[in-house]
Order: sequence, then C-alpha cells, then structure tokens
Amino acid sequence: MVKSKYINSLLARAKENVKTIVLPEGEDERVLEAAHIISDEGAAKIIILGDIKQMNDYFTQKGWSTKNIEFIKPEESPRLTEYTELLYELRKEKGLSHEDAVALAKNYNYFGTLMIKSGHADGMVSGANHSTADTVRPALQIIKSAKKGANVSSFFIMLSNDVPYIFSDCGVIINPTDKELADIALNAAQTAILFGIEPNVAMLSFSTKGSGKGDEVEKVKRATQMALEALQNDEYKNLGIKLDGELQADAALDEVVAAKKAPNSNVSGKARVLIFPNLEAGNICYKMLQRLGGCEAYGPILQGLNAPINDLSRGCFAEDVVGAIAITCIQATK
Ligand SMILES: CC(C)(COP(=O)(O)OP(=O)(O)OC[C@H]1O[C@@H](n2cnc3c(N)ncnc32)[C@H](O)[C@@H]1OP(=O)(O)O)[C@@H](O)C(=O)NCCC(=O)NCCS
Repeated sequence: MVKSKYINSLLARAKENVKTIVLPEGEDERVLEAAHIISDEGAAKIIILGDIKQMNDYFTQKGWSTKNIEFIKPEESPRLTEYTELLYELRKEKGLSHEDAVALAKNYNYFGTLMIKSGHADGMVSGANHSTADTVRPALQIIKSAKKGANVSSFFIMLSNDVPYIFSDCGVIINPTDKELADIALNAAQTAILFGIEPNVAMLSFSTKGSGKGDEVEKVKRATQMALEALQNDEYKNLGIKLDGELQADAALDEVVAAKKAPNSNVSGKARVLIFPNLEAGNICYKMLQRLGGCEAYGPILQGLNAPINDLSRGCFAEDVVGAIAITCIQATK
C-alpha cells in the first residue's frame, strides 16, 4: 500500500479508466513489487518484459497473483518481427540499417516503446536500471513530440508533506534557450492542471525583479515575456494559468519574503510550478530536496510526447515505481 494520500488519489483516478502500462525491467525486484501493488489495486493492466519463468517463479514465491499482469520475453515474442519492421520503416531515413533494427528491437526499452507505437500498450515506465538518456531516446525517436517541431521536456512531481509541486525541467533539456524555457513553462502549467495542482508558475532565477544582473537573468526575463504573450492565445487563455518572473525561490514560495521582494506579483509566495533556468539548477535542486529536505520526488516524467513514457531514478524504491505508473496512467487518459 502507498503512504502518500496524493499518490493514492492518482491511483483512484487511474482505476476509473484502466490503462495498459509496459515495464521493461522485469529483472528488477522493485519493478515486480510495483507491478504487484498496481495490479492488486486494479489501477492498471501491466505488461512486464523479461524472463517469463523467472518472473513467474518470483510471483509464486511471494504468493502474489498474476491477475492483470502479462509477462513477455521480447526475443521470443511473435510480434518481434512486426516491431522490427516498424522500427526499420520509422528510422531508415535516419540511417538505421535493417541489421541494426533487428538488434535494436530486442532492446527492451525499444521493444516497449514499439508496443506503444503499435497501440499494444498505453504507456511505459523504465529507468530503474537504465540512464535517463537510454529511457528517453527511444521515446524521442519513435513516439515523438505531440506538436511537430516542439521540444519534449520533463517534470517532477515533488511532494512536500504530501503537498504536490511541479518542478521543470530537471531531466531532459540541458541548457534551454529563452524560447525553450517559455515552452517548458507552458507545458508544465498544463501538466499542473492535469494533476490537479494550481497552475501558479514561477520562472526561477538568482534574481527577483531586477535585484541581480547578468545574461542568465536576461534569459529568464525574455522567457517570462514570451510565455506571458503565449498565454493570450486561445490554447491557454481560459486555463487560469498565472505566471511571473524572474523570481528567486524564496520569493516564489514564501509569502513574507514575497511581500518584500515582489509585492506586485500574482504568483510570488504561492507558486506551485517551479521552472528552473537550466538542467543543472533543476536537477541539483530536486535531489537536494529529496535527500536533505524530506521531499518525495516522482520523475522525470516526460511532457509534450505523443504518448507517456517515463523514467525512474536508479535509486528508486518500489513505491516510487508505483507513483510513476500512476502518473503515467493519468497522462495516458489525456
Ligand atoms: C534526452 C537526450 C538523451 C536526447 O539526446 P540524444 O540521445 O543525444 O538525442 P539526439 O540529439 O541524438 O536526438 C535523438 C532524436 O531525439 C530528438 N530530440 C532530442 N531532444 C529532444 C527534445 N528535447 N524534444 C524532442 N525531440 C528531441 C532529436 O530531434 C532526434 O530525433 P531524430 O533522430 O528523429 O532526428 C539528451 O537531451 C540528454 O542526455 N539530456 C540529459 C539527460 C540527463 O542526463 N538527465 C539528468 C538525469 S534525470
């Protein structure tokens, strides 16, 4: 059972519209335990990739039911040829040879991603034993951005005393341009709405409203302006999104500091969506909060993809995998 009330509320939402999620890391006990918890709850149908006998033995030994769970060994799957041809067709113009497609389709992250592309699963969660780049690359190559030419970025759901915040981008775009930063903020605001979090967006910096100077501050100011202009478009204008910058983290989160540093801001002191100026700041910040600040971190979750494929930290626990699956189910209902 999951402790967080917030994650339990996501599991309850997932149960209303059951999706099929593929987990390519069947060799990992944390993944198997998470699959058991999710299927036991009836929150999703689960497909686990791996050695079928070993997985069956593990479930039997634990006394867990395999209801709602399917085990697939990609190398022996009757669909391997179909997926190989699909991969080859999708990537041959990018220089993928048929021989390489045969090898790549057997890679479990590619196999899982091809299942989604073929409509045989709705989402995927991987990364307990793979780097972010290995999990994310097949998604970018095969599933692609929902909006042509737009960047895919990522977010974390950070729980502070079970109160959810969105942090973005702490996982994918290393050094975003001003335009990319504006897009990250707009995507993150929509993500917040999907997850029932107030879309109060702070564009973070080491400066609050001109208190600091430098190219980095100018980039955040330009991104803020671009995002504010985009909020006037039909796509965003009735969503209730509030956005402001540049703000330091204390001005974004603390009402007392906000009253001093940014008294006229409609976001300061009550930000729930924190946009970091680059991956270094975002990644370091989320890990510090997780390790020293008592926060729970779920992600990186990709935003802007055609179908949800999400990553795990290699240091994750089974409960983190459960949270990531629940989040993926909610994204799949969109
Ligand atoms: C995500 C990441 C792996 C992609 O880089 P990469 O594998 O070198 O990807 P490439 O540049 O070869 O691009 C592969 C494809 O993805 C596309 N792509 C890359 N980044 C993209 C993005 N942010 N949005 C949409 N598409 C993207 C490319 O256009 C390319 O498509 P194509 O092959 O069809 O032309 C890279 O941005 C990265 O390493 N980010 C940091 C990850 C990390 O270490 N995070 C910290 C831990 S959480």
